Amino acid sequence: MSFQKEKPIVYPVSVAPMMDWTDRHFRYFLRLITRHSLLYTEMVTTGAILRGDQDRHLLFSPEEAPLSLQLGGDNPKALAECASIGEGYGYSEINLNVGCPSDKVQEGNFGACLMKDPDRVADCISEMDSKTSLPITVKSRIGVRGKESLEDLSEFVRKVSQAGAKRITIHARIAILEGLSPAQNRSVPPLRYEDVYEIKRRYPDLVIELNGGVKTLEDIASHLTRVDGVMIGRAAYENPFLFTNVDRLFFGSSARDITRREIFLSMQEYLSKKTEQGEKPSRILKHLLGAFHEIRGARSYRRILTEKMHSNPGPTLLLEALQSISAEYLDQKLETEEPASVITLESVV
Ligand SMILES: Cc1cc2nc3c(=O)[nH]c(=O)nc-3n(C[C@H](O)[C@H](O)[C@H](O)COP(=O)(O)O)c2cc1C
Repeated sequence: MSFQKEKPIVYPVSVAPMMDWTDRHFRYFLRLITRHSLLYTEMVTTGAILRGDQDRHLLFSPEEAPLSLQLGGDNPKALAECASIGEGYGYSEINLNVGCPSDKVQEGNFGACLMKDPDRVADCISEMDSKTSLPITVKSRIGVRGKESLEDLSEFVRKVSQAGAKRITIHARIAILEGLSPAQNRSVPPLRYEDVYEIKRRYPDLVIELNGGVKTLEDIASHLTRVDGVMIGRAAYENPFLFTNVDRLFFGSSARDITRREIFLSMQEYLSKKTEQGEKPSRILKHLLGAFHEIRGARSYRRILTEKMHSNPGPTLLLEALQSISAEYLDQKLETEEPASVITLESVV
């Protein structure tokens, strides 16, 4: 076994791949809050990598690691080639998307519709596994309409793990491929956590991660008594400081002596550097809009940013917007050495 294959695959907490949201700028910001959670890229299709601008799709800052590259595709050879290219860019692992229900993805016959064809997914995994020394992981749904029983899921998990998948993340809802938009597919089909727990019971040696509807640190702690990892999507974007204390509570690291102001000063530095390199400030600042979830002054902070970020904002716009938030809150230590119990956002603000 190569060194790379021994990279860790059990991460108690991760941040979900989200198109347009978990781009490199948001990941850089989140990494300032949690050093250990696994981060994912947005889904990148094999076509985009093989026929598009690879640097645009794949470059990231070394600070973002550990970072999983999520691929979208259904052709084993193309996926294997992309996995190998991803290894060259320094990703920590390669993840296959078997959960996206969008029409575009269905037209390409990948994403969630691949759940109907576990043998094909297995072929993709084993081909990728043979062409890269990185761990290959999978993100799926509970099932798709018509193939949605626990037995179907169990067969899927067995086949993809036998093909070499090192971790399976299961979004605990089925996907309904006709008639529901991707957003509806993230809320209409009911959550079936029990099915994910049952998969972990049936395959105790497999690394199983649960995803869907997790919003608090208590939720994470509770799921972790039944599965190996928990993936957070929307809540991470809408409230990034939810990840305050995640490292301490779930990765066993000690509290860092860091404040929110210091995190924003680091983002200001990043913003200046990237803007100098030609990036549009709004592409970075848009990810900071949700930073002060339910905090006094958040509305004014957001208004200042949204009004000015698109029209050639000056270098101090972020600092100007921050003045809406109280100094007391900004200068509070981010991580607190509280008893080892789980604390919620409410108790740390
Ligand atoms: C804006 C947005 C974009 C998403 N893009 C992807 C994607 O590229 N790949 C993927 O596997 N899932 C994608 N998802 C689904 C999430 O990864 C996750 O499975 C889903 O949001 C459920 O988790 P949550 O309830 O914690 O948000 C996306 C979700 C959102 C909200």
